[in-house]
Amino acid sequence: MSTPSITSVQKEGKLYPPPKAFQKKAHIKSMAAYRKLYKRSYKNPASFWAKAAKELHWFKTWTKAMQWTAPNAKWFVGGKLNVSYNCLDRHLATWRRNKAAIVWEGEPGDQRTLTYQQLYNEVVRFACVLKSLGVKTGDRVAIYLPMIPEAAVAMLACARIGAPHSVVFGGFSAQALKDRILDAGATCVITADGGFRRGQIVPLKVNVDDAVKDTPGVKHVLVVRRTGRDVSMKAGRDVWLHERLAELSAQGRFSCRAEDVDSEQPLCILYTSGTTGKPKGIFHSTGGYLTHAAITTKWIFDLKDEDTFWCTADVGWVTGHTYVVYGPLAIGATTFMYEGAPNHPGPDRFWDIIERHRVNVFYTAPTAIRAFVKWGDEHPKKHDLSSLRLLGTVGEPINPEAWLWYHRVIGGARCPIVDTWWQTETGGILISPLPGATPTKPGSGTLPFPGIVPEVVRKDGTPCDANEGGYLVLKKPWPGMLRGIWGDPDRFKKQYFGDFPGIYFTGDGARRDPDGYFWIMGRVDDVINVAGHRLGTAEIESALVLHESVAESAVVGRPDDLKGSAIVAFVTLKGGRSPGADLKEQLRSHVGREIGSIAKPDEIRFTDALPKTRSGKIMRRLLRELATQGDVKGDTTTLEDFSVLEKLRAEEE
Ligand code: WTA
Repeated sequence: MSTPSITSVQKEGKLYPPPKAFQKKAHIKSMAAYRKLYKRSYKNPASFWAKAAKELHWFKTWTKAMQWTAPNAKWFVGGKLNVSYNCLDRHLATWRRNKAAIVWEGEPGDQRTLTYQQLYNEVVRFACVLKSLGVKTGDRVAIYLPMIPEAAVAMLACARIGAPHSVVFGGFSAQALKDRILDAGATCVITADGGFRRGQIVPLKVNVDDAVKDTPGVKHVLVVRRTGRDVSMKAGRDVWLHERLAELSAQGRFSCRAEDVDSEQPLCILYTSGTTGKPKGIFHSTGGYLTHAAITTKWIFDLKDEDTFWCTADVGWVTGHTYVVYGPLAIGATTFMYEGAPNHPGPDRFWDIIERHRVNVFYTAPTAIRAFVKWGDEHPKKHDLSSLRLLGTVGEPINPEAWLWYHRVIGGARCPIVDTWWQTETGGILISPLPGATPTKPGSGTLPFPGIVPEVVRKDGTPCDANEGGYLVLKKPWPGMLRGIWGDPDRFKKQYFGDFPGIYFTGDGARRDPDGYFWIMGRVDDVINVAGHRLGTAEIESALVLHESVAESAVVGRPDDLKGSAIVAFVTLKGGRSPGADLKEQLRSHVGREIGSIAKPDEIRFTDALPKTRSGKIMRRLLRELATQGDVKGDTTTLEDFSVLEKLRAEEE
């Protein structure tokens, strides 16, 4: 754990109060209303959340709202519900039956809209296909799809039969997919013949074929036809979705009731990077997760029935789970999905989409915003963005310059911005403005959502003073919190409850200003945030040392204007191997194959040795300083061999 420090970009600027017209129609209309809610929820979080849970449909109500023995939380104990029933069936009895649930655009420009009735039909049919493949309640299903409506359909179909899904981002390599399939013990993989990205076809099925060579547990691979490209199909294992649907349809009507699922049953597993080489399978519950997803979507994005909500995250990440699929559908909103890249065919693709679909609420990542700034104002300026009324950001601290640009150029200075802080582990947003109530400050996530009790503490657990940097912890459980790390309860306890016993530690550094606003200062562990994606330095190091030429490696993050952090890898080679530009390229591709393109180092530095402590621990802090400032000024007294540092310095020159 390194000590958090305050960076220069995080200085309080001026306050941006919610525009009056916006405020009038917002779900939470004033600071006084927020403060009242917060105060009440602080005294009794369980009762606040129980009220939120009542907005869902329960087949059986719970007997106890919350049960907590650190590190294990249970929410809505004894309650039974179904996520797909809540996202679909219950809307069919209302006027929303013919409302658009999903509006979708493919990268080539093809479009589809599914009403709640149509989405329900698709999900039921899909669930019947899964059942015909032998998938049962409790079985794990891996989903490796592009951003097409079938991704949401597949997730909801799994939820319908009570089979936890593990969605793996389509940008991950075959190797990363294999590791995730094995860790979750998935019996079925859902994929497509490809997906479109920057005009190219992502060979998803080829990757799956590679991955499942060594996953004996996988009985079936279900393939969605998206691109029409030829793919190889292994008899007995691989099944085309459209063919199986036709077979089942010939046998009669589709029907699949939504299973009664226990509130605490896992809904999904999401792999995320931690401080070791092995990604963690974060798993979320059913009742608590959906409660958290639904109320935060409603209050923070202030969604109204007439709104079109576009969260640009891929369903392979938690943001895509909670704010593309489950949150919006649970509250009967219209969610927009886009398959491809933001700069295809041109850098104005997003603005073109917003104009044509009249998107009202737009949620994206700071790294994307910084890219838009770089591409130039002329692209958004070509389009009518007047449908927008609220903007959001997530994934990393947003620098005030990017915030102000977003506010001015995209939001036309009329849209509030919700800077939402949360994590894969938290299931939903925990710190964020409520857009009709909270005056915002560029760069701050502002205040906690009702029912959430964060604090900034010192190493010894005592609370920090105002503006003193410290560690961000969550003092009370909340319904969307992870229920564990799949198959590894010890790591779960140690990772999140080991530093401050009984209290959840986020891994982030933060400070609170005199108004009580939270300013997130980034990770204090060996996790780096690259273009809004979490990567463990250990994960990249493990990938590098698998290469035949590499003896040892140490990976650090260096601040990057566009991506937040860039990846710098220090590499020592095995005897007889010679460094060079070719090998650098080879190593980058190798990491791409092992993990995925997002993990490819931006810079590789060959060195004879790495700086270590006497106990053999690599001193990443020194490498970080070297990579960032070009020299080391901090304490080096624990260094075992001083000449290593000298050599590294010399190589620098
Ligand atoms: C960072 C994404 C500052 C933080 C939902 C956190 C943020 C990690 C913000 C989680 C924000 C996320 N301001 N930092 N608004 N949102 N982070 O698991 O370091 O991919 O711990 O979840 O991203 O990343 P994850």
